[in-house]
Amino acid sequence: MKNIAVFASGSGSNFQAILDAINNGSLKAKIKLLVCDQKNAYAIERAKAAQIPQFVFTAKNYLNKEEYENEIVHELKKYGVEFIVLAGYMRLIGPTLLKEYEGRIVNIHPSLLPAFPGKDAIGQALAARVKVSGVTIHFVDEGMDTGPIIAQQAVTIEDGETRESLQRKIQAVEHKLYPEVLQKLFSTSKEEEKWETSVH
Ligand code: GRF
Repeated sequence: MKNIAVFASGSGSNFQAILDAINNGSLKAKIKLLVCDQKNAYAIERAKAAQIPQFVFTAKNYLNKEEYENEIVHELKKYGVEFIVLAGYMRLIGPTLLKEYEGRIVNIHPSLLPAFPGKDAIGQALAARVKVSGVTIHFVDEGMDTGPIIAQQAVTIEDGETRESLQRKIQAVEHKLYPEVLQKLFSTSKEEEKWETSVH
């Protein structure tokens, strides 16, 4: 069973989807901590309702990224977090967190990367008038929505598609795909492979 932390900045609907998958037994993990950089984010309410501890910080109260990420690392260690799941966390991960968790941080992005990285991927896709966009889950490196791709799923953009309708379709895909991909990742992790060879 993996101990994970979810990082979010907003509504937290992906955080909720992951929590629901854990509660219905389809994802074998435990959310030890929600990390959030927005004190009014709805994700915090969701964590409270589920009795999941929260670490909420305000970036501008720190000297720099290194300072707040050091505090995040301290919290993650305190809770025994082994793996970080970014779910709408609107900050670039810096060297401090990467050093501790590289290869163990994943992100979800609402486009078929490398198309439309960064902010407002849905608006970018609509503005480009593409017929297909989608969802990407990838490992996190120092870049903005770069890092090895783990899974992608396409979403068709119909004529007359609005931002709201496309966002709805993309989020529906995200909520199913993210828990499934996490389960696959966790069930094939090196630790478990080692465990399996030692007991069989
Ligand atoms: C998702 O669309 C995700 O792809 C992007 O930010 C959004 C977060 O939504 N990185 P929510 O907070 O999980 O509802």
